[in-house]
Amino acid sequence: MAILLGVNIDHVATLRQARLGDEPDPLFAAHEAHLGGAEIITVHLREDRRHIQEHDVQRLAGHVHGRLNLEMGATDEMVAIALSLRKGYPGPQMVTLVPENRRELTTEGGLDVAGQLERMREVIARLKAAPGGMTVAAFIEADARQVQATAQVGFDACELHTGAYAHAFARAGGDFAIGGLKAEFDRLADAAHRVRAAGRRLHAGHALNYLNVRPVAGLPGMAELHIGHAIISRGVFVGLRSAVREMKALMGG
Ligand code: PXP
Repeated sequence: MAILLGVNIDHVATLRQARLGDEPDPLFAAHEAHLGGAEIITVHLREDRRHIQEHDVQRLAGHVHGRLNLEMGATDEMVAIALSLRKGYPGPQMVTLVPENRRELTTEGGLDVAGQLERMREVIARLKAAPGGMTVAAFIEADARQVQATAQVGFDACELHTGAYAHAFARAGGDFAIGGLKAEFDRLADAAHRVRAAGRRLHAGHALNYLNVRPVAGLPGMAELHIGHAIISRGVFVGLRSAVREMKALMGG
C-alpha cells in the first residue's frame, strides 16, 4: 500500500498573518499540495490562533480535496470546534490530538496519553460521535508505554514523533554508524512495530525532510507521513506542487 502524505500548511498562514490582507491563501496552498499528490491536508488550530484561524478551517473543511486533518489540543474548546465543523462540512475527517504549550515555536514532545487515560477516553468518544464519525490519532513519542496507552483508550492511529530521529540524523550527517542515529531509528522502529501489533494505524511526522524521510517511509506498515516545514520551505523555490511531488517520490509513492 502506498504511503499517504499529509501536508501541513500552517506556515502559509504564518506568512499571511505577517501583513494585513489575505495573501498567501491556505486554501490555495491546499489545492496546490493536492495537485502535487498530497492525499491529506493538515492544519493546527492553536489556542493563540497565531497562524491558522477558525475561518481557514471552515473554508478548508468545505473545499479540501481528499482528507482534512485537524491537529489540536485535547481541550473542550477544540472538541466543540471540531464537532461544529462536522455538522456543516465534509471535513475534518481526522483529528490528531497534540500537546500544546503556548510558548513553543512548534509542537514539542508527544501527547501524554498514559498520564490521562480517562480524559483521552472522553475526548475520543465525543469526537467519534461527530456526524459521519471521525478518525482520531494521537501524536506520541516513540515510547512503548504511550503506544500501549493509545490502544487502551481507543485511538485509531498513532503518529510517532520523529523529532529525535531527525535531529540525530542531522547531527550524524545521515551516517547510521555515527553517534546515536541508529539507536534513535531503532527506537522509532520498535515503537512502529508496537503500534501495528496493537492494531493501530501507523503515522509518523515532525522534522522529516528530503534527506531523512526514506528510512521512516521504509518502516513496515507505515500508512501516513505528516510533513510541513520542509515541503513549504522547498515550495518557496520550486513551487508547492513540485515540492510535494518530490517528497511523494522519496516516499515511494
Ligand atoms: N505532525 C504533527 C503532529 C505536528 O505538530 C507537526 C508540526 O506542526 C508536524 C507533523 C509537521 O512537522 P514539520 O513542520 O516539522 O514537518
